[in-house]
Amino acid sequence: MRTLVVGATGLLGSEVCGRLRDAGASVRALTRPTADANKRAALVALGVETVTGDLKDAASLARACDGIEAVISTASATLSRQEGDSIETVDRQGQLALIDAARNAGVDHFVFVSFRENPKIQFPLTIAKRAVERALQQSGMAYTILQPSYFMEVWLSPALGFDPGAGTVRVYGDGTRPISWISYRDVAHAAAAAVGATSARNKVVELGGPQALSPLEVVQLFEAAGKRDIHIECVPEAALESQMSAAADSLQKSFAGLMLQYAAGDAIDNTTSRKLFPFPMTSVRDFIAATRH
Ligand SMILES: NC(=O)c1ccc[n+]([C@@H]2O[C@H](COP(=O)([O-])OP(=O)(O)OC[C@H]3O[C@@H](n4cnc5c(N)ncnc54)[C@H](OP(=O)(O)O)[C@@H]3O)[C@@H](O)[C@H]2O)c1
Repeated sequence: MRTLVVGATGLLGSEVCGRLRDAGASVRALTRPTADANKRAALVALGVETVTGDLKDAASLARACDGIEAVISTASATLSRQEGDSIETVDRQGQLALIDAARNAGVDHFVFVSFRENPKIQFPLTIAKRAVERALQQSGMAYTILQPSYFMEVWLSPALGFDPGAGTVRVYGDGTRPISWISYRDVAHAAAAAVGATSARNKVVELGGPQALSPLEVVQLFEAAGKRDIHIECVPEAALESQMSAAADSLQKSFAGLMLQYAAGDAIDNTTSRKLFPFPMTSVRDFIAATRH
């Protein structure tokens, strides 16, 4: 199926493009003029057609969807932002505009990368994701909504204060509640596999990695692999709650919300997702082994 990927210059979207091209699919990517030139060049080198556009520019979305049969959207303003980008303008209104554009262009199947919901912890990013999920389910297009857990490459990385190589890690909450850490590569694999798969149509799929482990268990695995003790800094849930209520904008509120949701744990029953996407998945142990060599 001729597929448009939105978010193609991001961590997940670029992997999705690679997966689709490996499978021989015809792929178009919506890219912004401000995107990293190396990332755009990498897409072109894969054989991806790039079209310029922005989720805040409805006309560009109509052009991007023209002649397209499937859309995969991974875009988010959480980490990659330009002027005017916010949770409201990109994750909510932008994604809703993309659904409109795709439906108007006669797109058959729309795959949306969402996020897990903990009904007790509401924040702008999850509220936006839920609004987009609802609109997609009512759009008349076939849909696959993927709700992955925390990406191990992001949340078990120095960028978020988790740096076992330096002998110190930050965990959110008391570190005892299990999370189904997933590799973004496995999420990309699932998103690419969903396109054109009858079994994945009109499904909301919770996606977790092969084993739910608490942050403290993950630290123990790193300690065993590195044969050294690691200092653990726990950020108390009360501090995260205060951070969320005091946050000046939706983005800061969402970061605090994501950390609170992590603290509450996110163990997933993978029975449905394993039937739909039965490929071998990366475990935290695999990830630790790969980051140590
Ligand atoms: N990290 C996690 O643990 C986790 C867990 C579950 C779900 N997710 C979801 O996974 C998805 C992908 O995350 P990621 O790590 O790939 O994010 P990322 O690396 O920050 O990539 C975001 C992408 O969105 C694009 N984008 C942002 N604003 C845009 C706009 N106004 N118009 C068009 N494109 C825009 C960016 O383009 P530029 O390069 O031009 O900025 C980039 O390609 C997100 O939807 C996120 O919510 C993440």
